[in-house]
Amino acid sequence: MQLSNTAKATGDSFVRNILALTQKPGVISFAGGLPDPLLFPLTPISSTIKEILDEQSPNIFQYGPTAGYLPLREIIASQYNQKGYNTNAQNILITQGSQQGLDILCRALLNPNDNIVVEAPTYLAALQLFKASGANIYEVSLEEDGPNIDELKSIFKKHNIKFFYTTPTYQNPSGITCSGQKRKKIAQLAKENDVCIIEDNPYGALRYEGSEPYSYGVYWSEGTVVLGTASKIAAPDFRLGWLSAPSFLYEACARLKGAMDLQSSYFFQRVFYRLLENDSLRIHKKNLIRSYKQKRDLMVKEIEENFKGLLEVNIPKGGMFLWAKFTDGTDTMELFEKAVKEHVAYAPGSVFYASKGGENAMRLNFSHASLEKIKEGIKRLKRAHQS
Ligand SMILES: Cc1ncc(COP(=O)(O)O)c(C=O)c1O
Repeated sequence: MQLSNTAKATGDSFVRNILALTQKPGVISFAGGLPDPLLFPLTPISSTIKEILDEQSPNIFQYGPTAGYLPLREIIASQYNQKGYNTNAQNILITQGSQQGLDILCRALLNPNDNIVVEAPTYLAALQLFKASGANIYEVSLEEDGPNIDELKSIFKKHNIKFFYTTPTYQNPSGITCSGQKRKKIAQLAKENDVCIIEDNPYGALRYEGSEPYSYGVYWSEGTVVLGTASKIAAPDFRLGWLSAPSFLYEACARLKGAMDLQSSYFFQRVFYRLLENDSLRIHKKNLIRSYKQKRDLMVKEIEENFKGLLEVNIPKGGMFLWAKFTDGTDTMELFEKAVKEHVAYAPGSVFYASKGGENAMRLNFSHASLEKIKEGIKRLKRAHQS
C-alpha cells in the first residue's frame, strides 16, 4: 500500500528523533523548545478550574461554535488593539495551538507548487508543514535586524509569492527581532506585491529587555495574519492558540477548522480566559521573565568562559533560544553524536533551513534546564567539542 505524497513529504521528523534520544535518563537537553515545568502556574490553574467546576454551568463540556469562546476572543482582540493592531473578536479564530493555525493557513492559501517565502533559518515544524503542502519554498536571509530587504524585494518581484512566513519577535531559532523600520518597509513591499504576511508570535511576551516593535498588522491589517499561543505563557498542553485574520481569509479558516476538528476545548478556553482576565498571567509572566533572563545570562556566560570565542552567541532580547555559531568550522551535525555520548543535546543549525545553511550553528534552549544543568551541560558540550 502506498502512502500519500503529503505523508511522504513530511519525512522523518528530526525533532521527534532527537527528542526521543534526549529523553534518555541523564541527558541534559538544550534541544527542544520546552518551558520550565517547575514554573507552570499550577496554583492559579487549579483554583480557576475549581471555580469553573463549582459554578456547575449546564453548558460545561458541551460542543460549542468552531470560532471559539467569545469572551476569550474579545480579550485577545482588545490586547491587540492596545498595541495598535486593529482587529476584533469576529476576526479571531481559536486553534489547537498556533501549530494548527499554520496548518489551517496552508490549507486555506496553498495549492501544490505555489510559492512562499520563509526566513533562513526558520521554525522547523512550519518548514515540515510547508513541504507537506507541496509549496516551493524560497528563503530570505536574516540579518541582525530582520530579513534582508533587497533579497525579499527580488523574490517578491520574480516569483508569484502567496505568503511570507515570519517570526519577527525573538525568532525561533535565531533569537533575532525584526526592527520596526524593517517591518514597515516589508509590509509596504508585501502590499505592493499582494503577498500575505503570516506573523507567528509565540515569544513576544517573554521580553527581557528593550521594547517590542509594532506587529505587521499595524502597518497592513488587510494582508496580515497574526498567530498567537497560550503555550509559552500558560502551558503547551492547553493546546490553545489563535489566529487573527482579515475577513477575506477568516471565513475560509473557520470552515477548514470546523472540518478538521469541529472546535478546540471550551473548557481550556474558559480557564485561559479567566487567567487572562484575573491578572494571574501578568504576575506569572513576571516570574517567567525573571527566571528565563537569569538562565539566558548564565548560558551566555558559560559559553564565553568555556569556549573563549570558538562558539559565538547571538544574545536575544527575549524568547527561549540562543543561536550559537562555531568559528572553527565545526559541523554541528557531526558533533551531535559526540555530544549525545557526553549526555548533552542541542538542535543542529542545518535542520532550520529549507535548503542549505547553518552547518556550523546550533540552537540552544535555555528555558527548560535548571541553572545547575545549564552549567554542567555547557561543560559537557565543551568536552564533546574537544573529543
Ligand atoms: C515559531 C513557533 N511557531 C509555532 C509554535 C507552535 O506552538 P503551539 O502550537 O504550542 O502554539 C512554536 C513552538 O515552539 C514555535 O516556536
